[in-house]
Amino acid sequence: MARQPNEMEFSDLEIEKAYRRKKLGTALVKLVISHLRDKGIRRIYGSVAKKDLEDFPQLVRWWESFDFRRGNKYDYAVSGAIAYMYLDLD
Ligand SMILES: CC(C)(COP(=O)(O)OP(=O)(O)OC[C@H]1O[C@@H](n2cnc3c(N)ncnc32)[C@H](O)[C@@H]1OP(=O)(O)O)[C@@H](O)C(=O)NCCC(=O)NCCS
Repeated sequence: MARQPNEMEFSDLEIEKAYRRKKLGTALVKLVISHLRDKGIRRIYGSVAKKDLEDFPQLVRWWESFDFRRGNKYDYAVSGAIAYMYLDLD
């Protein structure tokens, strides 16, 4: 699926290890969602890599807590990804 002009990929989110579990990641994701909604973006998407699950096995559920849903891997192929997540803002 070709990327639409009103869709945006969210990638490379990482909180330095010493600062994790302080709700910084949550705050950042909420800020990004709010900002992109204001900019008229209709869909945010990204992927979860297998290596990201080593420290945080419930990572897919973490994205679901922001209402991201699991998408189709053929929509945007990323090597090493185990889940494709998207959030529709309309
Ligand atoms: C994913 C990531 C960004 C989360 O950022 P964070 O600031 O540590 O997360 P938060 O403090 O906002 O987490 C909120 C809640 O999510 C859950 N959670 C977060 N990290 C967790 C972990 N490692 N194990 C279990 N639960 C976790 C907890 O319920 C947590 O609340 P609590 O600490 O009060 O129990 C961070 O773990 C990270 O940088 N990971 C490595 C890179 C990565 O995987 N990025 C995402 C790629 S898709």
